[in-house]
Amino acid sequence: MLAELLSPLGIARFIEEHADRRPLHLPAGPAKRRRVQAFFDRGRFMRAIARGHAASRGGSEDGFSLRAIFPPAHEGPVEIPIAPNQVEALLAAGASVCVHDIHRADGALAALVSAAKHALSCVGQVGMSCYVSPAGHGLTTHFDAQAVLTLQVEGAKVWRYSEEPAIEVPRANAVLEASGKVEWTGTPPGDLPFPDVAPPAGKLREVELKPGDVLYLPAGHWHETLAGSPSMGLVLYFVPLSFSAFLERWLWSCFEENDAWIKGVPMSMTTTGEMMRGVPAPVAAYVTARLEELLAKLQTTDASEVQLARVWRRFIAQGSATVSAEPSGPVRRGALLRAVSPHLLSALDAREAQGGVGVYLCAGDREIALPPSLSPIVQEVLGGRPFRAGAAPGVPWAEARAALEVLLAEGVLERVDEVQASASESG
Ligand SMILES: [Fe+2]
Repeated sequence: MLAELLSPLGIARFIEEHADRRPLHLPAGPAKRRRVQAFFDRGRFMRAIARGHAASRGGSEDGFSLRAIFPPAHEGPVEIPIAPNQVEALLAAGASVCVHDIHRADGALAALVSAAKHALSCVGQVGMSCYVSPAGHGLTTHFDAQAVLTLQVEGAKVWRYSEEPAIEVPRANAVLEASGKVEWTGTPPGDLPFPDVAPPAGKLREVELKPGDVLYLPAGHWHETLAGSPSMGLVLYFVPLSFSAFLERWLWSCFEENDAWIKGVPMSMTTTGEMMRGVPAPVAAYVTARLEELLAKLQTTDASEVQLARVWRRFIAQGSATVSAEPSGPVRRGALLRAVSPHLLSALDAREAQGGVGVYLCAGDREIALPPSLSPIVQEVLGGRPFRAGAAPGVPWAEARAALEVLLAEGVLERVDEVQASASESG
C-alpha cells in the first residue's frame, strides 16, 4: 500500500533521498487518482468519525479526537472538540475539521499505518490524521516537530512550504504569528528553553495537491495550506523515538531479571537546609554498583546483538493489528496452512547468539521463539503462500506438528479451505 502511495519513486529511494532529509512532491497520474478516490471518500470519513466518536466518547488523551479549527484572530488558530453531527455546519461556517488518529476508527487506514511503519522500519509512533477544509480556508504558517506525508483524497489544496528546515530537530511545533513573531507551542520537553527561530526567509515553494497527489515534509519545515475547493487530505505522521527512549527499553530487557535494578534507588536521609554535594552515600553506593554492571554489559554489546534487534522489532510492531485465534485442534499431516494475512512477517536468527534459542518468528506484535531445527518451517511461513503440514525437509513430524499447532493457536497460521484453494488455483 505504501509502495503505491510512493509510486513511481519507490520505498527505497524515498528512504535514501527524502525520509527526514528533504520534501517530496509526487503528483498522481489518472489511474492512481481513481484508486485513491475509491479507497477513501466523504461517506467513509463520516462513518469513521461516527465510530471513533462513539468509542472515545468525544475525545481521549492519546488517540482519536475530532476537532474544529477556526481561522486565526491574532495569535494562531483556535481548536475546539466537536461531535460528528456538527461537522457540516462548522465547515459551512468556515472552520476546518481535523480528525486526529482517524486510523483508530477505520480498519483499512489502520492497515495502511501498520504497513507504513513496517515498510519504513519506524520505531517511533506512526499514525494518521484527516483534515477537511472548506474552499478558501486552510492552516496558517507553522512547522511541526514530526515529519508528515499528506495524501490528498478530495478537492484541491495549495501547500506552500520551505525547501530547507527552519530548525533541524525541532523539540515542538511552532506557528508564525500575524505580527511576524515565531511562537513555540507548549512547554519545552526538557530543561533547555526553546531556541529562537527566524520567520521563513525567501519565498515558499508552492504546489497544488489534487486527489492522489502526495507531499512529504520532514520535521521543522515551514508550511501553510489553502483549500481551492472543499478539500480532504489524509496525513501520515511520524513521531521520532529518541535514542534515550529506545535505550530505556533495551536496558529494561537486559536487567529485568536483576532484582537490584527492579527494586530501584534506595531511600536515604536527606537533611533539609544543607548544601548537598552529590547524592547521599547509600544512593551513591547503589548507583555505583549499577553503573559497573551496565559498563560490563556495554563492553560485551554491539549493534548485531539479538536482544537489541528484538527491542528494535518490537518498537516497529507496536500497534500492529492483533488477530484473535480460534481453537484449532490437532494438525494432520498434509493439511493446507498459511500465514494469517494481516500479519507482517519477519524472523530473527538467534542461532549464533550466546545461549541463542534458535529463531524468533515475528508476526505482527507476536514473537514466537522456535528451536533452530524448525528453521525450514519458519521459511515456509515467511513465504506467505499456502503450504502442506509435514512437507518441511528434515523436520521430524512430531516436532513439526507441535510447532504448527502452537502457530495456529497463536493466530499466526490459519487453515486453508481445500475446496476454495483448488478453485482459486484452477481459476
Ligand atoms: Fe502541519
